[in-house]
Amino acid sequence: MRTVEWSPQGIRLIDQRQLPQKVEITVCRTVADVAAAIRTMQVRGAPAIGACAAYGMALGAQLSAEASSTTLLAVLEEHAEVLAATRPTAVNLTWALARVKKAAQAAAVLGADAIRSAALAEAEAIAEADVRANRSIGAHGAPLIADGDSILTHCNAGGLACVEFGTALGVIRAAHSEEKTIHVLVDETRPFLQGARLTAWELSRLGIPHTLITDNMAGHFMQRGNVQKVIVGADRIAANGDVANKIGTYSLAVLARHHGIPFYVAAPTSTVDLNIETGRDIPIEERSADEVRRIGGNVIAPADTPAAHPAFDVTPHRLVTAFVTETGVLAAPYGPVLSKAVASAQRMQPITGEQPSRLSATPRERVEV
Ligand code: MRU
Repeated sequence: MRTVEWSPQGIRLIDQRQLPQKVEITVCRTVADVAAAIRTMQVRGAPAIGACAAYGMALGAQLSAEASSTTLLAVLEEHAEVLAATRPTAVNLTWALARVKKAAQAAAVLGADAIRSAALAEAEAIAEADVRANRSIGAHGAPLIADGDSILTHCNAGGLACVEFGTALGVIRAAHSEEKTIHVLVDETRPFLQGARLTAWELSRLGIPHTLITDNMAGHFMQRGNVQKVIVGADRIAANGDVANKIGTYSLAVLARHHGIPFYVAAPTSTVDLNIETGRDIPIEERSADEVRRIGGNVIAPADTPAAHPAFDVTPHRLVTAFVTETGVLAAPYGPVLSKAVASAQRMQPITGEQPSRLSATPRERVEV
């Protein structure tokens, strides 16, 4: 199944907190469930939380009995506020909410049921576009990988972080499917262990050779000549190309520059925030210090030890060798190329509110609760 998908019962998603021990599907039946799933990281990764929030809006519209367009739009506005407050760094979240709100507003003249249909159609369009974007990122990025490369990645930018396929891991998958002999070094990614729990799990299922390392081993392996490329995902890319991604990414970029190793960022254009000039303006999520004082629920520090937990850091654009987006591989100067890529991706999008073929978003298909 996809990481997140619509079903008549509600929004189905893989509960990523349970991996790799078990694959558990959870169903969000209310907007509050969706917000909790994002906040507690049952679903995580920038594109996945964007799609999930979009489906959350569709769910909220379906569950509301409002007959008037104006009132239903107001209800959706409240849902958008709740969903937007879940996690601050990944711009895909607010980007997806804005898209669904816009589609709903455009349909309002036709009545409340039209809003419901439009919200669901837009959420499906966002999910489908993410899948297409990921496949294109893979196709554009695979030529960057040479036969025999050992590639280091951080966090999880695989199918689990998106609707399916993945961004940074999408490039690796695409290179592997071209039958290149590659090896992946997987940073465990403290404190939430997305690398150890999720990326290693995905690579193992895909049969891609890999080795798990702790985050502090990266420099050692680079120094020994065991890393030819670094590829990571992104949560938000500022207009100048500064990149917010999982905490630890910046250190990797500095290490890669020191060792002359290319450092690639693979992300869909939905992760580019042209409203933010530089990385200084990107809000960095602060998560609970308990996630640092514990590993997998086990206490590893005195309970009263002060601990810090910024969940993301910002890599300055000058450390990025190139961006791999659905529009192609982008080299500096990033200011103009990123805005051109966003514009070209927007032209490739289906018209807002257009019904995707695998969905009939009629009021008859409202969720069964
Ligand atoms: O806190 P998370 O797990 O949501 O952080 C995820 C990342 O940092 C990913 O690298 C990023 O979202 C890109 S996913 C394609």
